Amino acid sequence: MGRANKVVLAYSGGVDTSVCIPYLREEWGVKEIITLAADLGQGDELGPIQEKALRCGAVESLVVDGQEEFARDYAFRSIQANALYENRYPLSTALARPLIAKMLVEAAEKYGADAVAHGCTAKGNDQVRFDLGILALNPNLKVLAPAREWNMSREETIAYGEKFGIESPVKKSSPYSIDRNLLGRSIEAGPLEDPMTEAPEEVYLMTKAIADTPDEAEYVDIFFEKGIPVSLNGLTLGPVALISRLNEIAGNHGVGRLDMIENRVVGIKSREIYEAPALLVLIDAHRDLESLTLTKDVSHYKRSVEETYSHIIYQGLWYSPLKEALDAFILKTQERVTGLVRVKFLKGNARVVGRQSDYAIYDPDLATYGADDRFDHKAAEGFIYIWGLPTRVWAQKTRG
Ligand code: ARG
Repeated sequence: MGRANKVVLAYSGGVDTSVCIPYLREEWGVKEIITLAADLGQGDELGPIQEKALRCGAVESLVVDGQEEFARDYAFRSIQANALYENRYPLSTALARPLIAKMLVEAAEKYGADAVAHGCTAKGNDQVRFDLGILALNPNLKVLAPAREWNMSREETIAYGEKFGIESPVKKSSPYSIDRNLLGRSIEAGPLEDPMTEAPEEVYLMTKAIADTPDEAEYVDIFFEKGIPVSLNGLTLGPVALISRLNEIAGNHGVGRLDMIENRVVGIKSREIYEAPALLVLIDAHRDLESLTLTKDVSHYKRSVEETYSHIIYQGLWYSPLKEALDAFILKTQERVTGLVRVKFLKGNARVVGRQSDYAIYDPDLATYGADDRFDHKAAEGFIYIWGLPTRVWAQKTRG
């Protein structure tokens, strides 16, 4: 009796997920393996991947286009939350996992599978996100993670695959572990494991080195409707097109790189290089528009929600009651986050240089230093008297 009868396996076409196919069958006694490759804009040709899965022994090989859903229901929600893990990482890889989990569960239900499987190892965050995402959506499904249990080195994995006709990687395999999708690239391992070693230029694909960026500044007007970016320079674009276009513009100016040490869910610190040009610019621009349109108290309160929200995404709790409750709060705050943000790109920088909204709470008659000032200057004294009362009493008691 095997661990499962019929399994839907998350499939990328790489050696590890390919080896999962014979491994699940031979070692764990799975009878039928259906692979699922999610197209989330990773730029791979999925046709050959689909064929490869069948050659590796899958009974069925699915390809699901999830780009639009990924951008609209995952990336844009995260932008509304200004979600940055540890204040920096815009969660470009993390956001893809709950959507892939959802696709796996849907396929498992459709094809009557009793388990789903993925190729994640035991040390990473992605296993947590897959396992919890699947569990939350269908607690009756088993989750199999062969690579978490087999103790094979890279060479042994390749050799195991060769026994079952899985060709070893043609290219000299890169020392890096790379994840890529529409939102960005995450690069780790190899020489990057030394935190003091600067990432070689070759790891970057979406962003230019500063030396190669244009000398002329470029301005981009981003229009948001209820906290969602809808147009660039007046041109209305769908979610995927907007992100792709902005990736190109920002990347061309060398914007969107991150080099950080982060705290993984399992407690390990890891060194990670990220490229996420559009996502980083959009969060920055969105946050700026909020500063124009949200009241002081909502704005300040929302920051703590954002911090929690980014932890939820990072730690694999996308499908959870807390996330749903915070979504309701965030959605409410976005009702008037509509307007224009002008971003200036130059030499690795993307700076917000202007913002405008019909819902701006900003009042020039109050802010002005000019003659038409409407602020009641006399009121300031009384305000400070009362605001400072506790300070005065405390100072007199302790110093007076
Ligand atoms: N550390 C990032 C995260 O947990 C990215 C991990 C992606 N994998 C990789 N091979 N770099 O979201």
